[in-house]
Amino acid sequence: MSELSRTQDITDPEGLQFQIQIDDIAVNACDGETVLSVLLAANYKQIMESDREAVSGAYCGMGVCHCCQITINKQHKQKACQTLVQPNMQVETKQNRFKQVGV
Ligand code: FES
Repeated sequence: MSELSRTQDITDPEGLQFQIQIDDIAVNACDGETVLSVLLAANYKQIMESDREAVSGAYCGMGVCHCCQITINKQHKQKACQTLVQPNMQVETKQNRFKQVGV
């Protein structure tokens, strides 16, 4: 299984305790950080694709802009900045229900 490195952490990450899957690639994470934190540490910049296929990155980082809505554990439109990581979490970027279901 391939693994992504956290190359964008401001300081050395301490207490990496488990892995989550981002687009089927394992990334180290620790209790208490958000999905957005892990995405940014792994150098993901464009994470969301809207229903109109517009790609965006996270803007506010605090739950206001709705620009970080991704698929988490098969649930669409979850805010990455408002979701704490959990072991074996499945994160999918640039996905939307219209693309997957064909509505
Ligand atoms: S980054 Fe703005 S709502 Fe998550």
